[in-house]
Amino acid sequence: SKGCKLVGCGSAVPTLQISNDDLAEFVDTSDEWISVRTGIRNRRVLTGKESLVSLATEASRRALQMAEIEPDDVDMVLFCSSTPEDLFGSAPQIQKALGCKRNPLAYDITAACSGFMLGLVSAACHIRGGPFQNILVIGADALSRFVDWTDRTTCILFGDAAGAVLVQACDSEHDGFFGFDLHSDGDGQRHLNAVMKENEVDHTLGSNGAVLGFPPQHVSYSNIQMNGKEVFRFAVRCVPQSIESALEKAGISRSNIDWLLLHQANQRIIDAVATRLEVPPERVIANLSNYGNTSAASIPLALDEAVRSGKVKSGHLIAAAGFGAGLTWGSAIVRW
Ligand code: ACO
Repeated sequence: SKGCKLVGCGSAVPTLQISNDDLAEFVDTSDEWISVRTGIRNRRVLTGKESLVSLATEASRRALQMAEIEPDDVDMVLFCSSTPEDLFGSAPQIQKALGCKRNPLAYDITAACSGFMLGLVSAACHIRGGPFQNILVIGADALSRFVDWTDRTTCILFGDAAGAVLVQACDSEHDGFFGFDLHSDGDGQRHLNAVMKENEVDHTLGSNGAVLGFPPQHVSYSNIQMNGKEVFRFAVRCVPQSIESALEKAGISRSNIDWLLLHQANQRIIDAVATRLEVPPERVIANLSNYGNTSAASIPLALDEAVRSGKVKSGHLIAAAGFGAGLTWGSAIVRW
């Protein structure tokens, strides 16, 4: 049977950096409050001149380069994002920008901060059950576009970024993808969402309007609404359980894990999960102080930095977990 493994990673962030002190100039907050409660010091934000598609393309190019794979060898592009630049999906635009000439399938996966984990598991399943060799999994989000920049309870948390990995088919004895565990709980949507809202339409469409239910409904999306305490509690409760379950399915014990790599939402969440799993701080990957919560991008962004800095080495076992809006959460045990 077929196995699959991670063979490359890459990331890209916008150039504009916003520090906690910068934020304190337009909302009532402070560097101390933000860094003590969240561990975040800086975040990167896309400006009007940049696009998420080009950021995702850059991250993908770096992952392909590391994997020594040409765009033409890519069999599928999974774009994990809740902020695509086309409601119908941005994945085909990335496929086009990369120059994948064989027209491989490219589609979006929408699951907020868990998106990348879902993409990773989907890629592994596609490879195991289908004819695919090389699947590019991209996590990218620009939540800055959906944040109320006058709301200090949310605008301090988020940043924009893109990260990508290449998942490649291999012999089963070289398999680098072990147990996984994925969940959703729609009941928790009330704690974290950016829901559709109806806009006023000021035109009427003739006398048939009343009969046909016209005028049509025009919609947009609300800014991010969040109950921080509930999200915090959810993450600290569900993520350790999910990782335990993935480890059990993989038949791997906690003590064999080289790195704990969680979605980078809040340093206190990361610390609490690590404590519950008894993973010492020196085996925890964290880079959110520089980037904030970058949603679907956070795991591949942190992985890429850890790989390029030499922390994560070939053969290392990683327990990775995402969690966020939906609610959705999930984990996977992978070898780098
Ligand atoms: N600066 C200064 N004061 C603030 C700020 C701020 N930026 N934000 C809130 N406060 C105030 C509040 O108004 C409140 O004041 P009050 O006591 O006078 O009412 C006080 O600080 C405490 O606020 P809490 O909300 O209770 O603070 P808490 O300790 O819960 O920290 C935080 C808030 C950082 C948001 C925390 O709950 C958290 O990180 N939760 C997880 C959130 C998260 O990770 N979300 C992303 C999920 S991933 C995804 O899918 C998008």
